Amino acid sequence: MEKYAHAKLNITLEIRGLRPDGYHELDMIFLELKEGDRIIGEKTKEGITLSCSDPSLPCDERNLAYRAAALMRERFGIKEGIRLHIEKRIPSQAGLGGGSSDAACVMNLMNELFCLDADPKELEEMAGALGSDVPFFIRGGCQRAKGRGEILTAIGAFPPCTVLVVKPDVSVSTPWAYRAYDQMEDPAEAGSGCTEAAEKAIRSGDFPALCAAMHNDLEAPVIKEYPEIGRMKEELFRLGADRAMMTGSGSAVFGLFSSAEKAASALAALESSCNAQIFLNEICSDHS
Ligand code: C5P
Repeated sequence: MEKYAHAKLNITLEIRGLRPDGYHELDMIFLELKEGDRIIGEKTKEGITLSCSDPSLPCDERNLAYRAAALMRERFGIKEGIRLHIEKRIPSQAGLGGGSSDAACVMNLMNELFCLDADPKELEEMAGALGSDVPFFIRGGCQRAKGRGEILTAIGAFPPCTVLVVKPDVSVSTPWAYRAYDQMEDPAEAGSGCTEAAEKAIRSGDFPALCAAMHNDLEAPVIKEYPEIGRMKEELFRLGADRAMMTGSGSAVFGLFSSAEKAASALAALESSCNAQIFLNEICSDHS
């Protein structure tokens, strides 16, 4: 069986405070993209075997996809084993949710492969134990995400546009990004209410209002340390993006283009001028 583990973008990331458990209280909008890792899974007699096209990634308990498979076997009492292979396309430490998406994809894949007919709510709850972003990938689509990121509400169709994703040649650690935010002198003011405004704009199909509302609270502290991310964002604006922003804790930035032609020429310009990884993406509209 084969499935795609799609990447995500943060259309907003608003930090509402620090929680007693050390996590941050968030209000965000996630958008699923068509681009993703390819995961192949087949039944075996016993155990979990994981392989990956990227030799730099661990294939044992350190890999979230492996932990997802172990959790599924344990929770559903699966006696048989599973062999999994991940063909990586989503860059790691980019804010595109690659590891989280692989984990959710393994859960959905095993649910089908072993005919478990699991309640999606139960899968989401299990996913939350693996990581804050994993429940989103069980559902996909365009979702408002609160709490640690696990309290989800579907928003519906995203306004039509073309997405260009660029990953500068730096990797950002998520815990580091949140710590850098906490150490800022005057955090949290700029983005206040952006998620509410962006949800309204998506629901009414108002693309200019959506672009105006988009905001990521982690962007300022991360760009301060990694100015190349800021330069890439400026480049996307210069090449005609209606809005450019960092996703998650970075380092990837993305541009939304109302004109597909402008996006295509921006892609061509970037391909000839920089050595960053670039994807021209489609928004996943299979779910709502
Ligand atoms: O949940 P996950 O393991 O994916 O989170 C990775 C890190 O991101 C956490 O260890 C924490 O530093 C930060 N984080 C946070 N608040 C959230 C989600 C993640 O501080 N809501």
